Amino acid sequence: MNLLEKINEAKEYILSVEKRKIDIAIILGTGLGSITEDIQNKTVIKYKDIPEFPVSTVKGHAGELIIGELSGKTVIVMNGRFHFYEGYSMETVTFAVRVIKALDVNDIIVTNAAGGMNPEFEAGDLMIIEDHLNCMGTNPLIGKNYEELGARFPDMSQCYNKELIKLTKDVSESLEYSIRSGVYAAVSGPMYETPAELRMFRLFGGDAVGMSTVPEVIVANHMSMRVLGISCITDMALADNLEPLDHKKVLQNAEKAKIKFVNIVKTVVEKI
Ligand code: HPA
Repeated sequence: MNLLEKINEAKEYILSVEKRKIDIAIILGTGLGSITEDIQNKTVIKYKDIPEFPVSTVKGHAGELIIGELSGKTVIVMNGRFHFYEGYSMETVTFAVRVIKALDVNDIIVTNAAGGMNPEFEAGDLMIIEDHLNCMGTNPLIGKNYEELGARFPDMSQCYNKELIKLTKDVSESLEYSIRSGVYAAVSGPMYETPAELRMFRLFGGDAVGMSTVPEVIVANHMSMRVLGISCITDMALADNLEPLDHKKVLQNAEKAKIKFVNIVKTVVEKI
């Protein structure tokens, strides 16, 4: 089966379970799953039941699509994503985004947990992603290009939609939350970075570093979707003052940003 056929199989299965017209997609990052509690009239579809869908393996990541109502909109939420470091191909990492677009969804909010490299940041901050650095060593668009999905050489001059960035800044201000903005550097992981690596990514212009998001955002742009990216700064990744880090700490700090994250995303969804 080629990629187009696989996308179609998964799409047809989802439509056989749930036919509501979906307005917005949301990919939930590590520790940011609590927004699913606010979704009404939910249909939950397990990844393992969707043809051609992979199953995620990381603790703290569920493995389900949730379709339901949030802030008056119909949303599709990916609760649990696929990471390159789990050993999946880039095609597999980004497959769900292809299926979401096939369901005629054009707006996607992509979230993640990230280390803060900008010394002005603090753990627990949220950062609107204004641009990214793909330091993963590969690219999800390598290989056969399907013109039905997008161009061979897609434009990336505005990967993160300027209107959605502005909307999110306005929403944060109206809720009286501070929010950062900056450049997200994506690495393959799964190890956290060495001080020398962090120094390099900071010199490159990165404000935050993480192990996801960029493949999905590249593929979403390939298909001309509007993308909003939000990072939760779960730890400070400062080359000259680097404390030992583990996944537990990342989850604990994501928890601290939870309420702010949920309120911002809910209001953005309402106003999109
Ligand atoms: N580095 C890479 N990925 C991450 C980090 C980090 O410091 N924190 C959360 N995800």
